[in-house]
Amino acid sequence: MTPASTLVDTQGRVVRDLRISVTDRCNLRCVYCMPAEGMPWLPKGDLLSYEEIARFTRVCLSLGVTGVRLTGGEPTVRADLPVLVRLLNDLAPDLDLSLTTNGLKLTTLAGELRAAGLKRVNVSLDTLDPQRFQQIARRDRFHEVIAGLAAARAAGLSPIKVNAVLMRDFNEDEVVPLARWARENGYELRFIEWMPLDFGHTWERWKLVPAAEIVARIHAEFPLEAARVTDPSAPATLYRYLDGGGSVGVIASVTRPFCGHCDRIRLTADGQIRTCLFSLKEYDFRRAMRAGAPDETIAEMLRAAVWRKEPGHLINSPYFKQPERGMSAIGG
Ligand code: 5AD
Ligand code: SF4
Repeated sequence: MTPASTLVDTQGRVVRDLRISVTDRCNLRCVYCMPAEGMPWLPKGDLLSYEEIARFTRVCLSLGVTGVRLTGGEPTVRADLPVLVRLLNDLAPDLDLSLTTNGLKLTTLAGELRAAGLKRVNVSLDTLDPQRFQQIARRDRFHEVIAGLAAARAAGLSPIKVNAVLMRDFNEDEVVPLARWARENGYELRFIEWMPLDFGHTWERWKLVPAAEIVARIHAEFPLEAARVTDPSAPATLYRYLDGGGSVGVIASVTRPFCGHCDRIRLTADGQIRTCLFSLKEYDFRRAMRAGAPDETIAEMLRAAVWRKEPGHLINSPYFKQPERGMSAIGG
């Protein structure tokens, strides 16, 4: 692959990972993500079709992208998601094709998704207590997530990662129970620091539980050591259990930013490219595609956008400004 055919930015970072949000809608209302009511959903006609998503992805693959993750909102609430998975898998069967989901629909979809070419899943789960789940997600559906995880395993999706977001005075006491449960069940657990990306703008610094504290709490119960870094662009810092019980990760986006190794871009459900979760600027690929732009024009636009990829987020700077769109509209 020649340099001209890869996606490079001014910092020398190379983009390899495309996150695709297929919908901004969701069947939960997690407190760290959405308000209880009144979410302004995108109009249906603004969403890229599966054919448009596949076409855009094909151009990305020609520019060196090797991994695609489908996200939302909640990607499984969009109809016929396996159809998109199959279109993407047909582009490149060796593609690292994964899905971030709240797990609710995996009981019915896991087998079909696997058959269509999905390789692995990340399932969000922030508590092991059904009542607490209802407080966090504002829906009483804990047992469906647990069943969904089992369905993902039965379907052969592997590895199965679990994402947990902790909030101070709310579910911070779930650290060790979640770690124990994930060890016992063979799920790869990652704790994500809460980021200022919620639609309701309720984020406050004191409410996030820092990665260092999470690791210390787990270490006190199950001794850990830092794992060797195998993929520098992976957001999670991994720790190995000294007793051989696998590993646990922390995604310290706020307290230990890893922007210097970021290899990601994001395509929103309405066809905008964001070169950072915290971008204040978007590039309108839906308009370009619907205006008939040929592949080479799309590739050129993408190279130009990635070239201007932000060196890093400014969460820890006084000049930080939370993007207008929340995580559920951007794609995790
Ligand atoms: N900060 C950190 N993680 C978040 N997620 C959703 N909103 C936030 C936020 N503001 C998590 C979800 C999901 C993944 C895509 O990101 O729980 O696991
Ligand atoms: Fe839905 Fe995920 Fe947001 Fe929870 S965090 S409301 S599951 S999009």
